[in-house]
Amino acid sequence: MPRKIVVTSALPYANGPIHIGHLVEYLQTDIWVRFQKMCGNECLYFCADDTHGTPIMISARAAGISPEQLIEQMHKEHKADFDRFYIEFDNYYSTHSPENKYFSELIFNRLNKAGSIVTREVEQTYCENCKMSLPDRFVRGTCPRCKAEDQYGDSCEVCSATYQPIDLINPCCSTCRAKPILQISMHYFFKLADYEQQLKDLIAGGHTQKSVANKLDEWFKAGLRDWDISRDGPYFGFKIPGEENKFFYVWLDAPIGYMASAKNYCDKNNIDFDNLWPGTNSAGASSSEYELYHFIGKDIMYFHALFFPAMLIGAGFRTADKLFVHGFLTVNGEKMSKSRGTFIKASTYVKHLSPEYLRYYYASKLTDSIEDIDLRIEDFINKTNSNLVGKFANLASRSGPMLTKKLDGRLGQLDDRGTELINKLTAAKDRIIEDYENLKFASAVRTIISLADEANRYVEQNKPWVTIKTDLEKTRTTLTAVINAVRILTIYLKPILPKYAEKVEKFLNVDKLSFEDLDTVLENHKINDFERLVERIDEEQVNAMIEESKETQNPQPTAADPAEPFKPECTIEDFAKIDLRIAKVIKAEAVEGADKLLRLDLDVGGPEKSVLAAIATAYKPEELTGKIVVYFANLKPRQMRFGLSEGMILAAGTGGKDIFMLSADTGVKPGQKVL
Ligand code: MSP
Ligand code: ZN
Repeated sequence: MPRKIVVTSALPYANGPIHIGHLVEYLQTDIWVRFQKMCGNECLYFCADDTHGTPIMISARAAGISPEQLIEQMHKEHKADFDRFYIEFDNYYSTHSPENKYFSELIFNRLNKAGSIVTREVEQTYCENCKMSLPDRFVRGTCPRCKAEDQYGDSCEVCSATYQPIDLINPCCSTCRAKPILQISMHYFFKLADYEQQLKDLIAGGHTQKSVANKLDEWFKAGLRDWDISRDGPYFGFKIPGEENKFFYVWLDAPIGYMASAKNYCDKNNIDFDNLWPGTNSAGASSSEYELYHFIGKDIMYFHALFFPAMLIGAGFRTADKLFVHGFLTVNGEKMSKSRGTFIKASTYVKHLSPEYLRYYYASKLTDSIEDIDLRIEDFINKTNSNLVGKFANLASRSGPMLTKKLDGRLGQLDDRGTELINKLTAAKDRIIEDYENLKFASAVRTIISLADEANRYVEQNKPWVTIKTDLEKTRTTLTAVINAVRILTIYLKPILPKYAEKVEKFLNVDKLSFEDLDTVLENHKINDFERLVERIDEEQVNAMIEESKETQNPQPTAADPAEPFKPECTIEDFAKIDLRIAKVIKAEAVEGADKLLRLDLDVGGPEKSVLAAIATAYKPEELTGKIVVYFANLKPRQMRFGLSEGMILAAGTGGKDIFMLSADTGVKPGQKVL
């Protein structure tokens, strides 16, 4: 009996483009879904854009469009990016939909009825100018600990302190720079702890990987706290029933978006949603013909292993059979970085490289663990060229053209040695299927590579390029085995390389390949002309992609990524107050406890001055001695956590390694006015 399976990936935020980090998840899921379909199972893959919340509302305002317009535009972009990577959803929907509103209200009302919703007053930061309450990330100010300026309301990027927005010195609204006020407001809370036992039972039943269960254990031990599920308007989201100006927090309706996408699909395709995502009986049990799996990244475990299942249990809906959690992408061992050019958007990638390289590379690294996966650029190039091109495609390109040009494209029959090779290859079927099923893609790929090595050895031993000169029929027999090996390897690789498989199917003149086809061989069969399957990667293409991904000095704001908001107007008189002078660095040294700071002693033409500068990511202290810098001479000295700073030096750049100061010593005099 074919299985019926429903699969979801996390819903990407509608306020940013899809990047290669996201793709770890969507490719992992897509490969698994394609694998299930190839096994003959019914497998439905649902996803949607996650459209609600303050960042989207603010992005839309900054772009001068409505949130509805913004999310519509992003929906198109996301869908196009997924299509380019052959990520095939059965439904790609939106959380801003009638179905999602319906289920969010239904679940909220049921939780309320069950006594799991309470209200309580909270203190929130509010901007009277923007007329909205501000999430922590939208408040900026001076860090109360190290006194670094312009830090977020939840944590300091310089000294890593964490705090509340109200603790900032001179807090301001990141949009308009007005000073926010504190406001008391009534919020709705979900009593997560009511479901502690059911959640523990769920996890004990093997809901997640072991390492995830361990993390959850820590959270259980720390105690489950009530969850604030409401936000005051203006807010882009769904209104809470019975309220005029209160909305569901985006994370309440986001996972319900899985149900909404499924419901929308069911209605369009005459499927009974209540069978697919049934309610539970009084004992909390449910029965469905469908298995249900969620794929997510490790950063959103709390929402998917605790909040969402608790909401479903409380509202009487089935929970998933399993939650598959993956790790994060690093590039060359580091977090993706805009300044290094490794924050690569899906749309930038496809301008330079074939999507199948990345599909293959990720598959070759993915396991069932939550370890991060590292994209090592050099390894990526090597694996593509030596495995994809050198081992798989080569097998076909060595045999196909010879058959069509010299042997009128007709396969013969397998002899004993050919049968032996084919048997070896098909014998790995169960192991490969098991690896795919259990998300051990890296292991599956290793097996497939060793089989390709076997097939390439067969070619070396039988030397068709020699026998073709003397014995056509022997050559036909050899090539028949090779072509059958190509067919088998292609079946194994097809979940990972759908486009490649399509080309092979065309060249082999066969219908869509599936695992069932491993039970038969191709003999006495006419094949078509060979078409190249994959090209080698040239390092230049990768470099060009990284170059294009480097954040430029002057990023062009887009609808989803508006520029940093401008500060209020400044007059020429304001500007004239700033006294800029040439200074020469006499000494530079690291500041203990502050990774980003250097202390610089400056010759400014008078008494020596000492300043703290956040330039340690770009310069080593020893490089700076003797350098000429622009010095903000009349800035009032400030006592900072790491000592007194008498003024400021000017530097510009995108951050990280790109922070530029004036220049080497050209003989200008310290103290000289800067024009
Ligand atoms: N909108 C939420 C999810 C709501 S699900 C009901 C969200 N969106 S996201 O766009 O930030 O991330 C979408 C998925 O991509 C998440 O599962 C996240 O873990 C994953 N990834 C985002 N960046 C990633 C990497 N750098 N590496 C691997 N996965 C990453 O979270
Ligand atoms: Zn404001």
